Amino acid sequence: TDLDTFVAGLPKAELHLHIEGSLEPEQMFALAQRNGIAIPFGTVEELRAAYSFSRLQDFLDIYYQGADVLRAEDDFRDLALAYFDRAAADNVRHAEIFFDPQTHTDRGVPFDVVMRGLLAGMAEAEGRHGLTSKLILCFLRHLDEDAAFATLKMAEPWVDRLAAVGLDSSEVGHPPEKFARVFERAGAMGLKRVAHAGEEGPPDYVRQALDLLHIDRLDHGNRALEDAALVARLAREKMTLTVCPLSNLKLCVVDHLDTHPMRAMLDAGLRATVNSDDPAYFGGYVNDNFRALAATGRLSRADFVTLAKNSFLGSFLDDATIARHV
Ligand code: ADE
Ligand code: ZN
Repeated sequence: TDLDTFVAGLPKAELHLHIEGSLEPEQMFALAQRNGIAIPFGTVEELRAAYSFSRLQDFLDIYYQGADVLRAEDDFRDLALAYFDRAAADNVRHAEIFFDPQTHTDRGVPFDVVMRGLLAGMAEAEGRHGLTSKLILCFLRHLDEDAAFATLKMAEPWVDRLAAVGLDSSEVGHPPEKFARVFERAGAMGLKRVAHAGEEGPPDYVRQALDLLHIDRLDHGNRALEDAALVARLAREKMTLTVCPLSNLKLCVVDHLDTHPMRAMLDAGLRATVNSDDPAYFGGYVNDNFRALAATGRLSRADFVTLAKNSFLGSFLDDATIARHV
């Protein structure tokens, strides 16, 4: 439809994308072959058929397993480039991508190999598409505080190449407070701070992310809507929410996109954005997420313009660059 074409054409930034979650089954098989690794699926179709989840943990188990094919610097470069090619086709002009170093260093892949590969892909994408990008180092919250501190230590020589730290993986049972001291240290290193909160976890986890992690941006935030005072605060503080509609659907955070909280978020004056999270696993890149929202008929052209502008306003680009984009 017309609205589909309109939303697809909007210039946008992507602020919630796990690069390991952009590993398509075809590329997983190709990297497995290149690295001489056996994967427990016979075909791309068999693998895709396994992508049926009823909660976050179902997905995480298969996502960490998939990342095992990533071994060499070129694997990380090729992964990033494949994502940027797709993003550029969706009119993404800037992307702030998450990576999970512990998933790799715990398998014996050096931190520096991951960094060099991702940075090579980012540089090549900027040359190829003019698509700029930044890196956000995520700590796995199911691991302990010591492991997060050790990862932050590995990041020290690379601090100028990182925009922020983030917090992801299994939310419930791993509240933000567990990482308050790590985030304090990251802030002292000059890094911005973001955290997944309120995806499956309660509104109190969102409040902890604000008060104890001092976040600059909130990833997901769906369950904040259960608490009116918290919603008012997020609006007042102009906190950016990186919302992921197709992810929410696939992980059963919402029952149906017709009842997705995006409408309520915009009505509450929240600075919400549209993002793809783990597109290879959830069935769509950023324009698929925009079109899925358009199909509900509950958002107007003006709403989509707001969402696309919010993605630049909520980015970690400098003010002059943001002004050129919006
Ligand atoms: N890691 C990758 N995607 C994630 C998500 N949606 N929530 C938590 N951790 C993740
Ligand atoms: Zn995520």
